[in-house]
Amino acid sequence: MLIDIIAGARPNFIKIAPIIDAIEQRRHQGAAMEYRLVHTGQHYDKKMSGDFFDQLGIPAPHHNLEAGSGTQAEQTGKIMVGYERLLMEKACDLCIVVGDVTSTMACSIAAKKMNNIKVAHVEGGIRSGDMTMPEEINRMVTDAITDYFFTTSEVANTNLRSAGVKDDRIFFVGNTMIDTLYKQMPRLQQPEIWAKCGLKAKEYIIMTLHRPANVDSKEKLNELVTEIVRVSQGMPIIFPVHPRTMKMLEATGIKAANLHVTEPLGYLEFNYLVKHAKAVITDSGGITEEATVMGVPCMTLRDSTERPETCTTGTNELLGTDPNNIAPAFEKLFAGKWKQGGIPEMWDGKTAQRIVEHIVTIFGVHN
Ligand code: UD1
Ligand code: UDP
Repeated sequence: MLIDIIAGARPNFIKIAPIIDAIEQRRHQGAAMEYRLVHTGQHYDKKMSGDFFDQLGIPAPHHNLEAGSGTQAEQTGKIMVGYERLLMEKACDLCIVVGDVTSTMACSIAAKKMNNIKVAHVEGGIRSGDMTMPEEINRMVTDAITDYFFTTSEVANTNLRSAGVKDDRIFFVGNTMIDTLYKQMPRLQQPEIWAKCGLKAKEYIIMTLHRPANVDSKEKLNELVTEIVRVSQGMPIIFPVHPRTMKMLEATGIKAANLHVTEPLGYLEFNYLVKHAKAVITDSGGITEEATVMGVPCMTLRDSTERPETCTTGTNELLGTDPNNIAPAFEKLFAGKWKQGGIPEMWDGKTAQRIVEHIVTIFGVHN
């Protein structure tokens, strides 16, 4: 069988790496499976794309659709046209999409409308309930046409069942982003900024912000970062800045002796910093999962999450986007009263193997 694996944006690369490993392993055992890695080109900077292929040992994509940036509709359109063209040259038997980015939705639609190609959604079923986020629309549209759901949590399973999806299409397998984390844990690397800023373990904060609600308005970004600096008691704050955020951050002109702004970091360097941090402050989805697994206190500047297990089981807490909520959270952190947290069910590093075994069974793949 021929499987297309779709990846377009930074978190996708981390989620597909173990799936490719597991397919390669099964192929070595003689399974008649081939795959095409399709990069949509949604993210294209070396620091948002190429570096992850190098560090995680992901093979070069077979195809790059080179969609690039644009409005939601422009980007969706470019990806759909590019992927449809590829499918017209040669169709696949299964299209695997991961996560909730525009590439996820666009490729699932193109595949499904091409003679009903089967679609598998890795991380299917999660919902934030926040329709102002493009990701929520991507999740809902993708799941409406997905054939096989590979899920990260019981909450996702419940969401799917409530939407009428039958159990024989839901496979609770765990989290491929965490497969990558476990695999790479021994290889995490201290970044240059460690020595440059004289960092000490558990004595700095690592921060990322890239949600439109937090970073697309200069005033909002300014009030959040100003408040974080104010309550940080001078502890170094390391801020690897997403390209979406950089222009606006520069426009705020914000500077502080303990605020250290850098380019986006490589996976191995970034997670080294998370592992040794006093706390993470973020609006990312994936980072809340990684902080949970590493047991690092995590403050999320969002009103909702599609990953509730990071709060109920893990170390994550939703602070919302009101800067007034930041000071009480820092007080709790500095008083040593942050919750301990545990690891969500099935996040054991073997998710991708389970996914591939299910595919072998579903499609009757022979040796
Ligand atoms: C996208 C995803 C978001 C995910 C994030 C991960 C959607 C709707 N959003 O958001 O869910 O959390 O990726 O990082 O799919 N840019 C560059 N270089 C790049 C990529 C982007 O400069 O390599 C800049 C461009 O100005 C672009 C902007 O960032 O317009 C936003 O990029 P885009 O892919 O549209 O959305 P993200 O904010 O990255
Ligand atoms: N990440 C990274 N370097 C950075 C910031 C994030 O390697 O400077 C990794 C992080 O460890 C996680 C993924 O990127 O694996 C999360 O991606 P992002 O926050 O962009 O997207 P989201 O998860 O919010 O969709």
